[in-house]
Amino acid sequence: MQYMADVKSPRPQSRAAAIEVTGLSHIYEGRDGQVPALQEVSLTVGAGRFVVIVGPSGCGKTSLLMMMAGLRHQSSGTILCAGKPITGPDPNRVGVVFQEASLFPWLTALDNIEFPLSIRHAPREERRRRADAMLNLVGLKGFGTRYPHELSGGMKQRVSIARGLVQDPPVLLMDEPFAALDEQTRMTMGHELLRIWDETAKTVVFVTHSLTEAVYLADEVLVMSARPGRIIDRIDIALARPRTYEMMATDVFGRLRERIWQQIRRRSD
Ligand SMILES: Nc1ncnc2c1ncn2[C@@H]1O[C@H](COP(=O)(O)OP(=O)(O)O)[C@@H](O)[C@H]1O
Ligand SMILES: [Mg+2]
Repeated sequence: MQYMADVKSPRPQSRAAAIEVTGLSHIYEGRDGQVPALQEVSLTVGAGRFVVIVGPSGCGKTSLLMMMAGLRHQSSGTILCAGKPITGPDPNRVGVVFQEASLFPWLTALDNIEFPLSIRHAPREERRRRADAMLNLVGLKGFGTRYPHELSGGMKQRVSIARGLVQDPPVLLMDEPFAALDEQTRMTMGHELLRIWDETAKTVVFVTHSLTEAVYLADEVLVMSARPGRIIDRIDIALARPRTYEMMATDVFGRLRERIWQQIRRRSD
């Protein structure tokens, strides 16, 4: 795109694919018949990239993420993670963070973060050390003994991110993780997430409804059509990193946001 010629390129791109989705289709068998949710979705997420998926409600974003996480099986098509098929949940390869923090209310923040390690019977000391490191990474040092009801919405999502990262998976899938937060907390969390992403060199696939959030976070944005979901556009976000709040006021930012909006609007009419 011509108007991006003057913008500095983001971090060097890796050629290895962290996730490769090929010809993925899915039909739900509902009570009222079949619901075609995804149709021939193909996409590649390069290792270390931050890829954001946007699209109208009900277009299959959550379904797609669940399939990438091995939590739901697609009707047809393949998903490879680092070249190997995803056939079921494998938190060592793919971590997941959902919209609701979905923490166990009877466990402390630290115990919630440790939980995936304890069900895998990791040695106690290693569990504690790892969970402590994740608590620090998400900026919650000193809050480990708090219960979820003693934490704010933003803090709960931080715990949820720490839990998604505790097994050190190369890929982190995030389904509208900040949707329930107020705007200011949401911006702070986005910024924090970029810091964590930078420090840990993860590959992130992130679903959001917020176009501003999409442009602010992404290396590239994938736009999906209304149901049955297909990928209808792929937009490179060639804004320099680290991203700053000031960038949001620039023309380039506004034009990128506008292009995504036009795609979604045109295809949802
Ligand atoms: N378990 C299910 N059974 C039947 N239909 C479903 C099921 N889960 C989702 N759907 C339908 O599939 C479509 C895609 O859903 P979803 O992946 O949640 O979309 P999104 O996350 O983009 O809002 C929707 O029309 C939804 O109603
Ligand atoms: Mg969803």
